[in-house]
Amino acid sequence: MTETAPRPSGPFRYGDRVQLTGPKGKLYTITLREGGELHTHRGVLRHAALVGLPDGSVVPGGGDAEYLALRPLLRDFVMSMPRGATIVYPKDSAQIVAQADIFPGAVVVEAGVGSGALSLSLLRAAGDAGRVISFERREEFADVARANVATFLGRTPATWEVVLGDLAEALPAHVPAAGVDRVVLDMLAPWECLDVVADALTPGGVVLCYVATATQLSRVAEYLRGTGAFTEPEASETMVRGWHVQGLSVRPDHRMVAHTGFLITARRLAPGAVPPDVRRRTVRKTAYGDEDVELWTPGAVGDRDITDKNLRKRVREAQRAADGARQAAAGREGAAGSAEAPRPTA
Ligand SMILES: C[S@@+](CC[C@H](N)C(=O)[O-])C[C@H]1O[C@@H](n2cnc3c(N)ncnc32)[C@H](O)[C@@H]1O
Repeated sequence: MTETAPRPSGPFRYGDRVQLTGPKGKLYTITLREGGELHTHRGVLRHAALVGLPDGSVVPGGGDAEYLALRPLLRDFVMSMPRGATIVYPKDSAQIVAQADIFPGAVVVEAGVGSGALSLSLLRAAGDAGRVISFERREEFADVARANVATFLGRTPATWEVVLGDLAEALPAHVPAAGVDRVVLDMLAPWECLDVVADALTPGGVVLCYVATATQLSRVAEYLRGTGAFTEPEASETMVRGWHVQGLSVRPDHRMVAHTGFLITARRLAPGAVPPDVRRRTVRKTAYGDEDVELWTPGAVGDRDITDKNLRKRVREAQRAADGARQAAAGREGAAGSAEAPRPTA
């Protein structure tokens, strides 16, 4: 089994996280435990009934209810895992991997780590030969992210390092100048970190910022231009509209996630290089005054901050899931090393 891409296959075991789809498409995510039970108003589904069955099985769950059991995909997992901070949605993670050009073997810096949703995509894309260094200034968020990554992968990958601290201060101490291939920033005020990012990025390297509001987007763009260290920034947003495809009723879904955030990317120029055909605007870093920084508070950009009590609850929830996943991974390795895996029962 590799560090970053364990193969989530084989019969269900204790410790596995399983997504159940019940009557009317209702979703339940459980971690299989000895003696564990899922109680719904329709009846009881014992975890033991799932152990040994192949992924994709249908099991009875009391009354006439039946449940389809599947191991969650990465996109399912991040949507259901415990959250400290707002996550990057899968539609944006996919674009971030593409637009920031995260390649196998890349040295990637990420900040902040938040709940670890984006970290999982970066780890997967950078692969076993890569390295992902995730910076986070709030310890509890780092705890949630560590637990979520361990839950999904069954271990903490050796290719991942979580550094506690503010990126602007911690980055220079952790990576050599020009030693990083890609930087992905998902934070309130990424412009505060762009000078250290410019120093850390290798010439030709990519910086990508994910921001929630147009005002943040504008400030990042002007700051990038003002450094003179980057190519002309490119901005985009990603809207994914699901379709209902059934019989003759083939149409877009009535509802969609319309707005999550904007992506803005630029590439590090070689030191002293001035691109010939880039029409440079002469907006300087000072286009925004220091007092503007006060405006970029979570409340001002519409972010709901989590309470300390709620955050501690999420940490405990995430750590319990990670313990279960480590137990399942250890069980899988033990079984692979000693005996044949249990056969699925009919
Ligand atoms: C929206 S969350 C990141 C979510 C994460 N990308 C995910 O997918 O789960 C933003 C995080 O950035 C952290 N943060 C903000 N500014 C930072 C900085 N200068 N250095 C390190 N972390 C920072 C915050 O504490 C918060 O956890």
